[in-house]
Amino acid sequence: MLEAIKYNNRKLEVLDQLKLPHSCTYQGVTNVTQTWEVIRSMKVRGAPAIANVAVLGVAVELNEKDFNSKEQLYEVVKEQLEYLQTSRPTAINLRNAANRIISLLSVQLQDNKLSVNDMKERIIKEAEDIFRECKMKNLAIGEHGASHIINHLSTGSQATILTHCNTGSLATAGYGTALGVIRSLHLRGMLAHVYCTETRPYNQGARLTAFELMHDKIPSTLICDSMVAALMKSKEVSAVVVGADRVVANGDTANKIGTYQIAVCAKYHKIPFYVALPVSTVDLSLRDGGAIPIEERPSVEMTYIQGVPLAPTDMNCWNPAFDVTPAELITGGIITERGVFKVQELEKKISTDKED
Ligand code: MRU
Repeated sequence: MLEAIKYNNRKLEVLDQLKLPHSCTYQGVTNVTQTWEVIRSMKVRGAPAIANVAVLGVAVELNEKDFNSKEQLYEVVKEQLEYLQTSRPTAINLRNAANRIISLLSVQLQDNKLSVNDMKERIIKEAEDIFRECKMKNLAIGEHGASHIINHLSTGSQATILTHCNTGSLATAGYGTALGVIRSLHLRGMLAHVYCTETRPYNQGARLTAFELMHDKIPSTLICDSMVAALMKSKEVSAVVVGADRVVANGDTANKIGTYQIAVCAKYHKIPFYVALPVSTVDLSLRDGGAIPIEERPSVEMTYIQGVPLAPTDMNCWNPAFDVTPAELITGGIITERGVFKVQELEKKISTDKED
């Protein structure tokens, strides 16, 4: 399987996804400033991968530093995590991972039995746990989603899935969320075909998902974003499965720009629409999607592809990186590591179920 993040013996490397699919080049990351840069420039991207790289970036820098006191360690790590959260504003996984580390820091600060070095080691271990757990959660998402979709297929048929953006190994610690569901369907011999969108303007679908599907020999076809409605009308699509960058209390979901229009088309064509995500993508502090900050990317990412201009270079552009799909369009359900449930059940499920 492809690896977006390599972490061994407290050394961190990220695959430079700006160079895919033409070359697989890893870049070493040794400190928090470099971590911020690889996230901001989208060398690493995808909500779970961003969170993993952020906390591992803190871990590798911590590993090389000594601190005079636990208070100093607390202040430095808190400041680093706050700084990293300024890299990309829409995905919530980084904030949830940062909060997990800050809570641990607060507890350790009060524990008189712990030395400053014990505290440092414990924080590094927590970052490593977040990374390790991500892959386990993805496997569970894949299994729950595949079982659910298979149960809803007519007897004897296999699933044809439409997906958008990149949600696979390249966007996570491995296996993937929506692409994890597709992978599990394929491994069970229940996948007929996958259609993946190109995902303009940044082409995560064409450059990354198509690359991953071919790498893993999953039967698949690439389409342009503008072909979705025609595909739904002319071919059999069993379900749409996409990932998420932030799901708020009422189920409204921020995901890659273009997700909303696919959900509108799916509703019209009566095709179930699912969102697959780890619980760390949920933000219960916001009531509805109107409050989600939507990142706008520079025009150059729309007017050029890998240095080649596609439009008049001084043309005005509007380039939001994400849109919000209203909960009512998420007709299939929410697929998480805890199971599959209806979007209306989200708040109850997340706030009452114990964290695993
Ligand atoms: O701008 P990106 O490439 O970071 O956006 C990625 C997406 O929108 C993904 O669909 C989302 O993060 C889910 S990743 C498992």
